[in-house]
Amino acid sequence: MKIGIDAIAMDTPDFYVDLVKLAQVRGDDPDKYTIGIGQDEQAVPPSSQDIVTMGANAATKLLTPAIRASLGMVLVGTESGVDASKSSALFIHDLLALPEWVRAVELKEACYGGTAALMMARDYIAAHPDKTVLVIAADIARYGLATAGEVTQGAGAVAMLIKAEPHIMTIEDDSVYRSESIDDFWRPVYQDTAIAQGKYSTEQYLAFFQAIWSRYQTQRHHTASDFAAMTFHLPYTKMGKKALKLVLPDTDEATGERLQRRFEASTRYCRRVGNIYTGSLYLGLLSLLDNDTSLKAGDRIGLFSYGSGAVAEFFSGILQPDFAAQLHAANHAKMLADRQELTVPEYEAVFSDKVPYDPEDYRSDPTYYHGQFVLTGVIGQERQYQQR
Ligand code: COA
Repeated sequence: MKIGIDAIAMDTPDFYVDLVKLAQVRGDDPDKYTIGIGQDEQAVPPSSQDIVTMGANAATKLLTPAIRASLGMVLVGTESGVDASKSSALFIHDLLALPEWVRAVELKEACYGGTAALMMARDYIAAHPDKTVLVIAADIARYGLATAGEVTQGAGAVAMLIKAEPHIMTIEDDSVYRSESIDDFWRPVYQDTAIAQGKYSTEQYLAFFQAIWSRYQTQRHHTASDFAAMTFHLPYTKMGKKALKLVLPDTDEATGERLQRRFEASTRYCRRVGNIYTGSLYLGLLSLLDNDTSLKAGDRIGLFSYGSGAVAEFFSGILQPDFAAQLHAANHAKMLADRQELTVPEYEAVFSDKVPYDPEDYRSDPTYYHGQFVLTGVIGQERQYQQR
């Protein structure tokens, strides 16, 4: 039985900051941001947007009455959880009025959480072939104003339906994964900005990829030439480029040219949205599928997932006969084109207006409401969500 991605959609806030302008204000050379790090624009989430609203905004596009009736699980991969106890999947379950006879759970392991959800969904469908799993990978990457990580911030969600006999891409049973406890990136529970050992996390990402890619080739008997494209977790696009560079020396010229061309297509959304942690790999996959019209059914796509801390996994998927008909490339292009640019001072004000880490009541600014679902505030320590 084939199992995989039957539908996929994204959401990202309506606001962004231009990174050339941010570089100028920060006194950096813009080429460092756009070439050295490989980011052009950055999604700016107002406080009315969190992983719940973005996840619901992405998922609502996929839900038909038949899909609702077949749902078995709702899994949210995130490292921007809105509560230390209650799962964001339950808030989304409520906003989307999903059936009660499902499991609704949140999974956490830094940027790997979306892949953990995807693999759990795959195993569940193997046991329950008539069911559908809604997988959401949603995050807000915050490092702080004028920090080294600032240029790699971002916000968004990717929602996927995992089913038997999927229309877009199978998830092959060829995963190779590795775990090791390291301190390259973490976020203490009392703050909303991450602590990143930037250079060390980059080194570890590459070391994990090298080890896993080597084991994958030995165990699965595939080489780079078997892949139509390779996609990577993209905390910033240069990171994926560095990983792909490790593959290229062992390939023929045509394979190298193909993988590099398609890698570029897989980075287009990330360049404009930024890091969405758990969703970044799947935003890259979506960017590839939406932007590269030369892909065809039967093509094998590689996916490398990395979550600091760290857990990483490499696996592949095969494109299905009518995959192109299931995509919403024009909608995604419009979503990005219609966003409103914020000046750097406006971005800084939006960044600083956040749900506080204390029990006081808080109301978000309706000027920045976006999409069908918003967080209107936190009253009496309860989050107030609204459907518009
Ligand atoms: N023109 C072109 N490239 C330039 C440049 C310029 N004027 N100035 C610098 N660069 C290049 C550097 O050579 C470097 O490229 P390299 O990585 O290929 O060597 C790149 O831009 C970044 O410069 P660097 O000085 O290393 O940046 P930094 O000290 O500000 O740190 C990060 C960059 C990504 C480490 C930092 O943004 C960060 O900590 N991000 C968050 C953590 C993260 O995302 N980790 C990823 C693993 S999950």
